[in-house]
Amino acid sequence: MLTDKADFCRKIIVRAGELVMDGFGQARAVEMKGPQDYLTEFDGRCEKFLRGAIAEAFPGDGFFGEEGGGGDAATLWVVDPIDGTANFARNIPHFCIAIAYVENGRAEFGAIFNPVLRELHFARRGCGATLNGKPIRVSGVSAAQAATIELGWSSRIAKQDYLDTMSGLLDFGFNVRRAGSGALGLAYVADGRNEAYAERHMNSWDCIAGLLMVEEAGGRVCSFEGSEKILQGGPVLASVPGLAGPISEIMRIPLAAPREKVR
Ligand code: IPD
Ligand code: CA
Repeated sequence: MLTDKADFCRKIIVRAGELVMDGFGQARAVEMKGPQDYLTEFDGRCEKFLRGAIAEAFPGDGFFGEEGGGGDAATLWVVDPIDGTANFARNIPHFCIAIAYVENGRAEFGAIFNPVLRELHFARRGCGATLNGKPIRVSGVSAAQAATIELGWSSRIAKQDYLDTMSGLLDFGFNVRRAGSGALGLAYVADGRNEAYAERHMNSWDCIAGLLMVEEAGGRVCSFEGSEKILQGGPVLASVPGLAGPISEIMRIPLAAPREKVR
């Protein structure tokens, strides 16, 4: 059953990407959900498509999406129809669709698809992480002076907190960047394009798939399990093993215990 669901997820996320691409590179209406929080008609259309397709294929499962919400359930699909909506709205080709499948509060598989580059990151618990079907691993860099961390930001977090953590990371020697899609930022840790990703608060639809991917690719992550985290979000940290300790201290985000056996 899990294998059927994982196969379905890989297919449906690509179809959702095709739907979103119909709206890329065009002038379009943009609404603001809040400060620096963009919404286009394609966010809603894509989520409606995924909600309908998942309900039809697996009617017993719950659904929790960025735009339409939902509730917790023992078997739950957590969906971000467009992550990096501000980029999408400005015709910047750095956005994705993110889907995680969660059983009893724990992610079992996750997919992140950038439809512009046609890059599909996928991970299943205990089975490793892949990019377009090829196994990926976190980068081997362990010196902060050669490392890049993506530090996520949203208006949900106080400015001073963001500035203090950025200052701590810069003092430690990191290059700090922010590219505007937390889900892709995490996928890029899994495939070695970033050494780490951190953000003081993320919603579950932005991060569950990516956290599993980093763990399956040999990185260290914070814990993000259970109903409360899924419904309300929480702090996020994912890193190559050699830099996870110092980042955890600077960000004040505890790490989960390392996996006993990492592929
Ligand atoms: C946001 C992006 C951003 C992250 C925020 C998210 P959205 O999601 O992932 O990079 O820092 O926490 O809310 O609004 O593009 O779906
Ligand atoms: Ca998002």
